[in-house]
Amino acid sequence: MDSDIERVLVSEDEIAEANKRLGTQLAKDYAGKNPLFVCILRGAAMFMMDLIKHVDIPMEYDFMDVSSYGGENTTTTGDVKIIKDLDTSLRGRDVVIVEDIIDTGFTLDRLIELFNTRHANSVKIVSFLDKPSRRIKHVHVDYNGVKIPDAFVVGYGMDYNERYRNLPYVGVLKPEIYSTK
Ligand code: PRP
Ligand code: MN
Ligand code: MG
Repeated sequence: MDSDIERVLVSEDEIAEANKRLGTQLAKDYAGKNPLFVCILRGAAMFMMDLIKHVDIPMEYDFMDVSSYGGENTTTTGDVKIIKDLDTSLRGRDVVIVEDIIDTGFTLDRLIELFNTRHANSVKIVSFLDKPSRRIKHVHVDYNGVKIPDAFVVGYGMDYNERYRNLPYVGVLKPEIYSTK
């Protein structure tokens, strides 16, 4: 385990199990619909690539980069900026937004609103982690991975100052790592 990690919150085995469960369900629900999976960079990248291996139906995917947290802050500002937009038209598409974590809900709230103005046929959400304790905007999550307590988590795509995304598990960072810098 990385020496900056205090404890493992979601193990590699639990991650694999969640991906299989979610992917299998999505494959059933979206059979015949050629869904467009939208990965929200950068945090959701690792989750998306594992998840879609279980979505065993014709589908497409694209990437969008938005930002809600700035720099060293571990809390959100509520401000959501589009850094990189989709290349794919959403008109008439059945969209599945793929997120790594829902925290305050601001990111997803804004994206759902935006995708509806682009005339998607349907917009649903799959999130690997859910941190319900910090929700400000109520967002309905259609496919939920693992519920976690209010801790600052890293790994499996999630970062602190862009680091730790490559950890194969989700861990809680030692407080001294983010309080002394
Ligand atoms: C994080 C996380 C979600 C979002 C959730 O992304 O990956 O996308 O914040 O927060 P919210 O529910 O409070 O809006 P971040 O903006 O840190 O970018 P990253 O994925 O590139 O790390
Ligand atoms: Mn993100
Ligand atoms: Mg981040």
